[in-house]
Amino acid sequence: MGKLTVLSGIRPTGYLHLGNYFGAVRSFVKMQNDYNCFFFIADIHSLTTHPTPEDLQSGVKQVLAEYLACGIDPEAATIFIQSDVPEVAELYTFLNMNAYLGELERTTSFKEKARKQPENVNAGLLTYPVLMAADIIIHKANFVPVGKDQEQNLEMARKFAKRFNRMYKKEVFPIPRPFTFDGGDMIKVPGLDGSGKMGKSEGNAINLYDTPKEIRKKVMRAVTDSGPTEMDQEKPEAIQNLFTLLKIVSTHDTVEHFDTLYNKCEIRYGDLKKQLAEDIIAYTSPIRGKIIDILEDEAYLAKVAKMGAEKARESASETLKEVKAVIGLKRLF
Ligand code: ADP
Ligand code: TRP
Repeated sequence: MGKLTVLSGIRPTGYLHLGNYFGAVRSFVKMQNDYNCFFFIADIHSLTTHPTPEDLQSGVKQVLAEYLACGIDPEAATIFIQSDVPEVAELYTFLNMNAYLGELERTTSFKEKARKQPENVNAGLLTYPVLMAADIIIHKANFVPVGKDQEQNLEMARKFAKRFNRMYKKEVFPIPRPFTFDGGDMIKVPGLDGSGKMGKSEGNAINLYDTPKEIRKKVMRAVTDSGPTEMDQEKPEAIQNLFTLLKIVSTHDTVEHFDTLYNKCEIRYGDLKKQLAEDIIAYTSPIRGKIIDILEDEAYLAKVAKMGAEKARESASETLKEVKAVIGLKRLF
């Protein structure tokens, strides 16, 4: 039997942070040898926020180097840049004809973005889930490894794929499923500012590219409280977030150690933060070293992008041909 297909992407809007890494990129690396993988840089998606051409170009280069530094192997997986595969824009146009205003307006990501950038509520923002669906189904992906924040967008992609199949009475697209290791929940990496997720636009991100000094500074500034006052007290969100991060980067024993101290009301948050910072640095500094090296090798980056574009276009154009025939966009005369 052939391998199942996996696809995921990240917008090139800044440096990759721990949320991107533990929510998505680490899974990419784990999956690349067992699945037919497509990992891409969603540069068209990032146009909804109107980046300058310079920022867009450097963002694409940065994410490409970061993908490679994290261990995505361009020989095992197809790594490509969204705008190198124009077929996706064509499928997006077709899918838009069956995407309804009401359902698009109701998505939380649209409502949130409209709230964040009220001066720029553009049509691309509204149809963001349609383009994302096109990204996924143009390669007939079975699985999509993404963090919890993308759950609803993925649900929309499932809906559009099902709707297309139903409308044309043909199973053109497999219905894509979220992928999580060991069948657990999709991951949400918290921020260090007391509540919510870690994110670029949240301004609370610890980046893979940050220096150890920057990481120590960011972690030491994390929001805490004045400490537990009762034994075995439930942890408030800010403290729980620190423990969640610790669980992600530290050993089980380390987590147990601080958990016991918390439960005995003997915890010193400064010690916990120091440990957390060092364990984050142990994760990120080898990656940071590789990012720096790869960024210097522009010939290699160009080669990877070209190879990925060719492989991705081959797969996309095959699907698009089938889609056009099914829709009736095939000349009979
Ligand atoms: P950001 O929210 O920083 O703009 P993106 O939206 O570009 O990041 O996310 C790229 C990938 O990283 C997606 O798969 C997303 O689910 C994942 N991701 C981003 N932030 C987190 C987080 N805090 N926890 C888990 N996954 C995350
Ligand atoms: N919406 C995703 C994000 O903001 C990026 C993305 C675009 C994506 N197209 C995709 C993720 C297709 C997975 C599959 O993170």
